[in-house]
Order: sequence, then structure tokens, then C-alpha cells
Amino acid sequence: MFLLLLPLLAMAHGLDERPYKPKLSTASLGGLTTSSTFTLEQPRCVFTNLRDDVVVWLVVAVPEAVSNFNNSVMPGAPERAFQKFPASASAYMTLNTTLLNYPCHKPPREITVLRVGSETSCATDNTRPTCNGPLPAPGPYQVKFLALNDSNPVAETAWSEPITLKTARQPSSIPSTGSGRSAGMIALTSILSILFAILLATLLAMLVFCGSNAYGGSSSFSKPEAVTVQRYNTHHVYDQPAARL
Ligand SMILES: *[C@@H]1O[C@H](CO)[C@@H](O)[C@H](O)[C@H]1NC(C)=O
Ligand SMILES: *[C@@H]1O[C@H](CO)[C@@H](O)[C@H](O)[C@H]1NC(C)=O
Repeated sequence: MFLLLLPLLAMAHGLDERPYKPKLSTASLGGLTTSSTFTLEQPRCVFTNLRDDVVVWLVVAVPEAVSNFNNSVMPGAPERAFQKFPASASAYMTLNTTLLNYPCHKPPREITVLRVGSETSCATDNTRPTCNGPLPAPGPYQVKFLALNDSNPVAETAWSEPITLKTARQPSSIPSTGSGRSAGMIALTSILSILFAILLATLLAMLVFCGSNAYGGSSSFSKPEAVTVQRYNTHHVYDQPAARL
């Protein structure tokens, strides 16, 4: 009887804490973590015994916001707007979906992941504060899943370990997260330009090399041979009378 009452007590207390930590996907896909995205495992079979129409949100926060995070601030509120993150919003909420989409049953070989940061179209659109936009800096970030029944938080997972995105340089050589991205972008751009220049030079060299080869080949074979043959003919023609003399 007491065991049956436990979930009810937890619900009365407010939030049902699930002993699940969101984790980066280990599926063998290319580019799981980029400079503005990362890929999580879907929280399947995590929010059991809730109604199917409960909406599960992903919360992305800076680590400083984790310890006293307020679950009652609704998705889409200014303090949870993607466009204000992380400057004036310490977290944002995105990737809302009903629990129905996170069933326990996972068909074998099916890839069940969530790509965080994949939506570029709404990144600067202030009317879409729950945009799953590209992450603005390498982080680190911490994430959790929060289940809302209408606007009431009913269950949540634990916070993930800090997630750091890829940078062109080592994180230690970046002075601050703000200029880190631009410095990284500059480094990446210059590396790409150098690589492109090398590629172009190689192509040009190959073109010249093959071109001269092909030209040399044709000059010693096709056209001049025709000329040579003609000369032989003329020589032959001139030679014959000379031989006759
Ligand atoms: C997710 O939230 C947005 C904004 O609140 C809403 O327009 C959309 O219908 C929601 N989608 C789902 C699947 O709940
Ligand atoms: C969710 O809300 C409905 C009413 O909208 C309520 O009947 C139900 O008990 C709530 N579920 C939880 C888990 O709070």
C-alpha cells in the first residue's frame, strides 16, 4: 500500500525526478558534434507512467544556471528565448514533442537521436523563442528533459554532463567564448583558403604537365608525322629523278 502511494506522494511534491542523464549519441553517424550542433539520444522509456500528451522539452543551459534553475518559467518566455541565449537568457527550451514520440519500443537499427542546433531558419526570429537554432559558442552547455502537463512541470531528468562543442583551435588557446567563435572561424577560413590554394596549384601543375605531355605527344606523332610523310613523299618524288640521273 505504501509502495503504491509513493508515486502519488512524489507527484504531490511537484516534480518527478527521473534517474536519467541525457547523453550524447553514440550512433555511428558523421559529425555528431560540430561547432554549433550536438546529437543526443532520445529520452526513450524515461518518462513512463505519464500521459501520452505530456510534452517533453529539452532545456539547454549554461552550467552556471543549473544549480538554481527555475522549472516554472514557461517555454518561450523571454528568459528562455533562444535568441537571447546566453547573453540575457541563461537557458532556452526547445525540441518539444509529446511523450507519444518517445516510446519504449525502439526498433533495432532505427536511429533515435535528437540533433540540437539544426534549425537555422528561426535563429534570429524573435517570434520563435523555442527555435532549435545553432549554438552560438563552443559552450560548455548542460541539458535536461522537462515534461510539462499543460504548463505544469510534472517530471524531469537529471542534468547532463557539460557538453563542449568543436572548435577550430584547442579550447585552451581561446581567450573568451565570445571571441572564440570568430577566432575559430578566422583560423578555419585561413586553413581552408591555404588548402584551396594548394589544391588549385596542384591542379594547375597537373594541367600544365599533362597538357605539355599531350602537346609533345601530338607534336612528335600525329600532325608532324603527316608533314614528315609529305616531306618524304616530296623527297621521294625529287629523289626518284635524282636516282634516275
Ligand atoms: C512546440 O511548441 C511550439 C511553441 O510553443 C508550438 O507552436 C508547437 O505546436 C509545439 N509542438 C509540439 C509538437 O508540441
Ligand atoms: C495533467 O493535467 C490533467 C488536466 O489537464 C490532469 O487531469 C492530470 O492529472 C495531470 N497529470 C499530471 C501527471 O499532473
